Amino acid sequence: MAEIANPPTPELVTAFKGAMRRLAATVTVITTGSGGERQGMTATAVTSVTMDPPALLICVNQSASLHPVLETGTRFCVNLLNESHGEVAGAFGGRLQGADRFNAGQWAVNDHGVPYLTDAQANLFCRVDALMLYGTHTIFVGRVEDVRLFGDIAPLIYQDGRYVKAS
Ligand SMILES: Cc1cc2nc3c(=O)[nH]c(=O)nc-3n(C[C@H](O)[C@H](O)[C@H](O)COP(=O)(O)O)c2cc1C
Repeated sequence: MAEIANPPTPELVTAFKGAMRRLAATVTVITTGSGGERQGMTATAVTSVTMDPPALLICVNQSASLHPVLETGTRFCVNLLNESHGEVAGAFGGRLQGADRFNAGQWAVNDHGVPYLTDAQANLFCRVDALMLYGTHTIFVGRVEDVRLFGDIAPLIYQDGRYVKAS
């Protein structure tokens, strides 16, 4: 591979940020739980990896409080927010801390103790199957063990630094 400038030029950083503002993404909340403990954070760096096996990836900052939990290979849930979930996205994006975040939205817990948002568009129940450290983040591959769908397709989208509806 060709040599990449390190550190990147300020121009490249600015242009990259500008491009990412145009990469509209469905807002999700990633949750874990065990032994009565619950944790969660808002994330847009989520995408499918393969259908066989069903797997997705999430990119989590190594400074996030969820990171050490995910590193243990735990089960987690990716909750796909719908357009009414702006409050939930804000709470789990840093407006609230720790378990207080679960005061935003309606939450239940599955048989493995993993919290899920009952009126999310979808809940993808996963288990960490692989991980790769890259820069400030870790890419976790989640093997999908169960999926729950709810209501119509109406995603909350993050675009140009704000929440928007798909239509
Ligand atoms: C719309 C939105 C998308 C985000 N996407 C990600 C993401 O994909 N990965 C990540 O590590 N942090 C992401 N964050 C930041 C975390 O949600 C935020 O830093 C959170 O406070 C981390 O949890 P902690 O405070 O418990 O460490 C996002 C925040 C917002 C508001």
